[in-house]
Amino acid sequence: MAKVLVLYYSRTGNTQKMAEAVAEGVRTIQGVEVELEYYATPEELAEFEAIVIGIPTYHHDMTVDIKKLFEEASVKNVNLKDKVGAAFGSYGWSGEAPRLVLEIMKNRFGMYVIESPLLIKYAPDRVGLEKCRRFGKGIAERLKP
Ligand SMILES: Cc1cc2nc3c(=O)[nH]c(=O)nc-3n(C[C@H](O)[C@H](O)[C@H](O)COP(=O)(O)O)c2cc1C
Repeated sequence: MAKVLVLYYSRTGNTQKMAEAVAEGVRTIQGVEVELEYYATPEELAEFEAIVIGIPTYHHDMTVDIKKLFEEASVKNVNLKDKVGAAFGSYGWSGEAPRLVLEIMKNRFGMYVIESPLLIKYAPDRVGLEKCRRFGKGIAERLKP
């Protein structure tokens, strides 16, 4: 069964709410399994067919945990080639972090990235959560057997 990792960081809960809804969306597709996690080791990333990162933007950058995870995966040469990659996150005014994640996935790890990140300003409302569910469902549909 295809496995999707939804790995997120969230300081005030906004990206967490998005992550929960993205995971719900993935679950609607039969034959695709999802793990929703706050932490993963670099080696664990290799166990999934799709890696979906939830990351808010702080100080125009990626948050340290996720940056460190990719750095460690890079040093350890964890093979993520041709896996599906996607990113989303809450933001306030600039929202760079998910785009930076996609660049690393594509350029460093040779992942097949879904080009547009899903960005939601501050807390997701009902419409925002529905967008998150559709985003998760869309990723799972690419993997279904
Ligand atoms: C200290 C601080 C710095 C921030 N820097 C940025 C920023 O550079 N760009 C941006 O779009 N939002 C910025 N924000 C807004 C956060 O991205 C926003 O509050 C988001 O909802 C936080 O998501 P979280 O609840 O998942 O942690 C910043 C917020 C704080 C408190």
